[in-house]
Amino acid sequence: MRNGSYSIALLCSFGTPSALKGNRITTSAAHRAQARSPFAPFQRDLPVMPELKPTSTRGGRDLYDVAIRDATAEILPGFQTPIYGYNGLYPGPTIRARKGRPAIVRQRNRLSFDTNVHLHGGYVPSAHDGHPMDVIAPGAGFDYTYPNDQDGAFLWYHDHAHGRTSWTLYHGLVGAYLLGDEREQDLELPQGEYDVPLVLADHAFNKDGSFRYAENVDLGFRGDTLLVNGAVSPRMAVKRRIYRLRFLNASNARSYELQLGQGRQMLQIASDGGLLESPVARSSFPLHPAERIEVLVDFRSFKPGSQLILKNTAGEATTTAVMRFDVVDGGGVEEARMPQGPMRTIEAMPKPKVTRNWDLSLATASGIQWQIANKGFDPVRIDVRPRLGTSELWTWHNPSNRVHPMHLHGMLFRVVKRSSGTIHRGERGLKDTVGVLAGETVTVQPYFGPYAGRYVFHCHALEHGDKAMMLQLEVDK
Ligand code: C2O
Ligand code: CU
Ligand code: CU
Repeated sequence: MRNGSYSIALLCSFGTPSALKGNRITTSAAHRAQARSPFAPFQRDLPVMPELKPTSTRGGRDLYDVAIRDATAEILPGFQTPIYGYNGLYPGPTIRARKGRPAIVRQRNRLSFDTNVHLHGGYVPSAHDGHPMDVIAPGAGFDYTYPNDQDGAFLWYHDHAHGRTSWTLYHGLVGAYLLGDEREQDLELPQGEYDVPLVLADHAFNKDGSFRYAENVDLGFRGDTLLVNGAVSPRMAVKRRIYRLRFLNASNARSYELQLGQGRQMLQIASDGGLLESPVARSSFPLHPAERIEVLVDFRSFKPGSQLILKNTAGEATTTAVMRFDVVDGGGVEEARMPQGPMRTIEAMPKPKVTRNWDLSLATASGIQWQIANKGFDPVRIDVRPRLGTSELWTWHNPSNRVHPMHLHGMLFRVVKRSSGTIHRGERGLKDTVGVLAGETVTVQPYFGPYAGRYVFHCHALEHGDKAMMLQLEVDK
C-alpha cells in the first residue's frame, strides 16, 4: 500500500497534478505527492460526533430538536464539501437514549425537498417509523416519538423518502442513536470517551471537493475513498484501556471485511439488535450495508507508540485502509471489564407456523430493477400480513452475483440457516439486517412485534431499495 501505484491511484481520483503527466513519475515524487494528497490515510484525527442534548426532559421523556438542512463539511483538509446534515453535520449528532425513557425527536425539514427520518433497528409504532411514503414537506416538521422500550442497541437514524435514499444518505443524512440499558451497565462496559461509534462509508470526490455520485443501479455505488465519521481513513489516539468500538456500515452498497493489524483479537459483544448471549472472539468480521457490530479491544497489551491499522480486506487499493489506532501512554485506572461469560439470554420466539420464500432477482423489462418475489415496491399494495406476536421463517433466495443486505423495519429476527455453511456465533444474536451473499439462500426468523401496523422490508443496498427492491408488510392484530 505504500508503493507508488497507491499514491497515483489516490491522486488520479482528484485530478492529475502536472508532476505526474507523461508517466515520468519517480518514487520520491510519488511520496511527496502523497504527503500533499488530501486522500492520504491517517492524516486526520478521528472526528467524534457531538452528542445531542435534549431541549427538555420534562414529563419523563427527552425532547430533542433537529434541523435537517444544507451545510458544508471539511472532509478533505482545505475543502468545503456540500452536504445535507442533521443540524448541518455529517454524520449527524449522536443521540444517547436510555431504555425505558421515551424520546421525542422534533425534526424540522429545512431542505428544499421532502425528507423523513427512520430509526433503523428501533421498535417504533408504524406512524413514527419513517415509512418511505410518510414524508415531511420542506418547511414542515414532525415529532418522532420513540418508546425506547427495547434492549440496548446501536440504532441509527437516516432519511427514508422513497426513491432518494441513495442520494440523501450519501450526502450526509445519517446519525447514530445509542440506546443503553441496565444490563450494559452491570457488565461494566467502557463508557464516555472509551465508547466510540464509527460510521463507515465509501465516497468519491470531484476536483472542487464536492461528493461525486454516479448512479449504478445494478452494482450500487462504489467510492474510492473510505470515510470514518466523516474523515478520510483517520487515525485515533487510544490510551492503554479497553475500548468499545461500535461499527456501522453506512455505505450505499459496499460490504467490508474488517481486520485489526495482522488479525488481532477483537471481542464481539453485540450485533444489530444489541448484546450477544456471550462474547465471541474474532480476528476479522464481515459488515454489510446497514449492519452494526460492536467489539471490545483491549489496548493495554500494546506498548505506547504501537500503531494498529484497521483494514478492509475486502477492499481495493484505496479502500483497504479504514483507520489507524495509535497507542499512547497513560490511561489511568481501568474501570471497564472484558465480559467472560454469558451477557444476556435472548428469549425464545414462538414456534413458526408459516414459511415464506422470497426470490431476489433482477428485472430488465423497463430499465434495470432489482426486485423481491418478482415484484417492485407499490405503496398501495400490502404484500404480506403476518400476525402480531407470531414468528415465521423467511427464506431469501439469491441466485444473483450481488450481495443483498435484507432488512425488516420495526422488528428483529434471528438468522437460522445459511446455505453457504454454518452461522457464525457473532451472527446468532438479534438482527435487523442480514447479508445474503451471491448465490446464497438464507433463512431468518422474524418476530412480528411489538407493534401492529404497516412497515416495509427491503434491500439496504440503497440503489436497490430506491429502485423498487422493497415490499410492504402489515402486522395484523
Ligand atoms: Cu436503514 Cu429501511 O432502513
Ligand atoms: Cu430500517
Ligand atoms: Cu440488493
